[in-house]
Amino acid sequence: MSTIDLQALIPNNVNLGDNRQLQRALEHWQPAFLKWWDEMGPSDFNAKQVYLRTAVGVDAQGWASYGYTAMPDYRWGIFLADKEEGRRIGFGDFMGQDVWQDVPGEFRSTFRRLIVTQGDTEPASVEQQRLLGHTAPSLYDLRNLFQVNVEEGRHLWAMVYLLHAYFGRDGREEAEELLERHSGDPDKPRILGTFNEPMDNWLSFYMFTYFTDRDGKFQLKSLAESAFDPLARTTRFMLTEEAHHMFVGETGVGRVIRRTLEVMKELDTDDVAALRRAGVVDLPTIQKFLNFWFTSSLDLFGSEASSNAANYFANGIKGRPDEARFADHVEADTEMTIQVPDGRGGMKNETISTRNGMNEITRQEYVKDCNVGVTRWNMATKRAGVPFELKLPSTRFRRNVGGWAGTATTPEGQPIGQAEFDARKDEWLPSEADRAYVKSLMQRVVEPGKMAAWIAPPDRGINANPVEYEYVKL
Ligand SMILES: [Fe+2]
Ligand SMILES: [Fe+2]
Repeated sequence: MSTIDLQALIPNNVNLGDNRQLQRALEHWQPAFLKWWDEMGPSDFNAKQVYLRTAVGVDAQGWASYGYTAMPDYRWGIFLADKEEGRRIGFGDFMGQDVWQDVPGEFRSTFRRLIVTQGDTEPASVEQQRLLGHTAPSLYDLRNLFQVNVEEGRHLWAMVYLLHAYFGRDGREEAEELLERHSGDPDKPRILGTFNEPMDNWLSFYMFTYFTDRDGKFQLKSLAESAFDPLARTTRFMLTEEAHHMFVGETGVGRVIRRTLEVMKELDTDDVAALRRAGVVDLPTIQKFLNFWFTSSLDLFGSEASSNAANYFANGIKGRPDEARFADHVEADTEMTIQVPDGRGGMKNETISTRNGMNEITRQEYVKDCNVGVTRWNMATKRAGVPFELKLPSTRFRRNVGGWAGTATTPEGQPIGQAEFDARKDEWLPSEADRAYVKSLMQRVVEPGKMAAWIAPPDRGINANPVEYEYVKL
């Protein structure tokens, strides 16, 4: 196993101390990162002690330690999964050759762009969630928000390490720009659309951590297959942390549903107005928020047919999630079918090469994974005897990227006219009134163990502590 230097200014398991030049460059970037955290990270909580998990190694058993920390003192480190001796390229035209310990010159700009795009999402989400601490429904949730935030900060470090270590001066410039773009900034926005969406309520936060962090999981899984070994090892370790983010999302949405079901039973009603008067989020509104964040996250996978994606696959740059599970790792002449608008208000099948369809293959795997949690949420409504089923909309619905961009459809994916979409969109997506209502519920609750009235308590606390533990010392 690799040795871990936890005492260093920048904790790491990459022997940073042996590379003075790289160490100096990263130590130079560190104050800029801290300044960014101070200005753009969680607002007004920097002096508070938070019960946080910190990555201290890459051993599956003991990789994290828990304790109280003020967020600016968090030990953001550089951790790569251990090197697999004799690892070979697992897909594409270089299949079977040794993996690369350095970036081949001909793929340098492609790798740089992929790493920058991934890296950009990490601080972006922290910026989006900046104000949520003020309206946390409990101390438990407040702590989870900050846990997600500091780990996204560490993921930024993970990408910045790669940029500094393997991309020379261009990499250093990109690392600086990662702190200069900001979520929702009209002049210098973040690279991807979803990461510029405003987030002023916790229902959106849970949907985001369920759906958008899960996009992250699939991007990281695809990069974990890369022939560029330092990238593969970096992303493999990021996945370890990422699991908690999706847990926060799945249990968060589940707790909102559970609380709504309780009140539906108490009042014996499914009347939206009555439930809103009682201060909970009605199930149709939960469905609309789901529709919004799921479809927004679908766009992050890119176009169904993409020659860039084919190039990444052919050259071993980016594979499919869990590539080993696919039968054919080369896909030299194979084909697949996608659905596209036929231009006459309907749709038609189109045959493309499998290599061109890599984004769509990854998106389909993502949809399957999203459905696991939806099924669990529906178990709660079923158990309560409520005839309401949450559903993922079609991947054709409300798309802004790919073949379905600009084609209006119903949530079931049936093409319709733009006028019909505009007339019905408030049935399917959060309206101004829905957003204002959800926002009106956001009141801060800070007594240990207490929950806001619109959300049920979690089943258990963090790291075997009780739910009423003082997760943040305010
Ligand atoms: Fe992340
Ligand atoms: Fe995440």
